[in-house]
Amino acid sequence: MAYFALEIDDFSYDSGAAGSLGDVRLALEEGECLLLKGATGSGKTTILNALNGVIPAITPAKFGGRVVFKGQDYILGKGKCPPFSVYTVGQNPFHSFAAVNLDIPQGNGIDGNWLSARMEEASSYQDLSAGEKQRALLRQGFASEAEVLLLDEPLAHLDETGIAVFRRSLMERKKGGRGITIIAEHRWKMLNDLADKQVILPDLKVEKEEFVTGGEIRFPGGGNGGTTERLCKMKDVTLRLGGKEVLSEVNWQIASGEVCGITGANGSGKTTFAKAIAGRLKAVKGTVERRKDLRCSMLWEDPRPQLLCDSVEKEVFWAAENYRVDGGLPGKLVSGLGLAGIAQSNPLKVSYGQQERTVMAAVLAGNPDLVIFDEPVQGQDEKGISRLIGIIRVLKDSGKGVVVISHYLKLVEQAADRIYVLEGGKMREK
Ligand SMILES: Nc1ncnc2c1ncn2[C@@H]1O[C@H](COP(=O)(O)OP(=O)(O)OP(=O)(O)O)[C@@H](O)[C@H]1O
Ligand SMILES: [Mg+2]
Repeated sequence: MAYFALEIDDFSYDSGAAGSLGDVRLALEEGECLLLKGATGSGKTTILNALNGVIPAITPAKFGGRVVFKGQDYILGKGKCPPFSVYTVGQNPFHSFAAVNLDIPQGNGIDGNWLSARMEEASSYQDLSAGEKQRALLRQGFASEAEVLLLDEPLAHLDETGIAVFRRSLMERKKGGRGITIIAEHRWKMLNDLADKQVILPDLKVEKEEFVTGGEIRFPGGGNGGTTERLCKMKDVTLRLGGKEVLSEVNWQIASGEVCGITGANGSGKTTFAKAIAGRLKAVKGTVERRKDLRCSMLWEDPRPQLLCDSVEKEVFWAAENYRVDGGLPGKLVSGLGLAGIAQSNPLKVSYGQQERTVMAAVLAGNPDLVIFDEPVQGQDEKGISRLIGIIRVLKDSGKGVVVISHYLKLVEQAADRIYVLEGGKMREK
């Protein structure tokens, strides 16, 4: 008999984007790791939430399912306490909380490198960067030694070092042979060698739709007849957060029709830099000059606070209306970004990756002159990333300035004309 066996029959749910996963069967031995693969919105988070009890406690669903844990039967969906200890590290680090400087003992798979020097000093989780938050959460997850450890897109905000620490921690946990680990991850290729089993979820109806290609999207008034003009210039910009110098004498500029990629380690200041361009943070020294009347829009690392309407479609059309953008742009963006199947759904109830795309469509529907994408690949499958690269090309051809911030080098390399690395507060061209 397996240590942990899950049987789900005919799982259907209505979370705004109603869907059905059909049947799911898996069996794991103690110490094993399972990779849960599947397209954006295919139900990976839903399965994790059925196991940890969020479904049905918070999100309703109809299903027949049971777990057999060390021979003990546990019926899912009845709101009863499971016979195993379970710990979840959720997909959105901005909607979670970890005690950063909690004195977690070393050993037992708790790698000493989870926390950077800056994180050791931090007094509040809120002040950490996205990747720093994710590291604090994962460190706590591995320290929990739960019998069932559920990790939802754990690599989304991690830099190279963070991914190495994650891999080491997972190897240690497996070596310890206690409990099982279930990981839902789009970047599963980085973990394939550590997985003992995998489940590939079938595409839902929503994902099977034919999308219009990026080429069919047109931004009004774009092109400038091939001439370029400077949109934003930073001169000797120094910026401090909580007394710490994050940007030191940064010089940078972007013109219309240019795509600029920004990379750098967790906490190196990428998001701070983006906020300085957008005027959300003020430099203590130096200047940020923006073209007069420049319309700059930003897709934040956490998409949820940018969602304001009660349907995906309204979210995108409202943005166009607000900025008085004519023509069929919002409609094209809804289909171009794969949102047609969830157009009437509440954006707070669709999957995290679909929320990311909804905000992306809304940001673009306002036809901005300069667009900043801060980690736009989170929650996106391969198809979603190719689509994003296509849309960035259209933006470039339409004379927009684009800043792409990401740890996913493939995106930055394929989309950007110039790539910069932030390190020690300084910006250098790669
Ligand atoms: N309000 C704040 N007070 C103090 N420090 C802060 C504050 N906000 C951010 N920081 C620190 O500033 C540094 C830069 O943060 P930022 O979010 O710009 O990093 P990042 O390069 O975007 O990282 P990631 O790759 O994790 O997204 C981090 O070390 C972070 O902990
Ligand atoms: Mg960031």
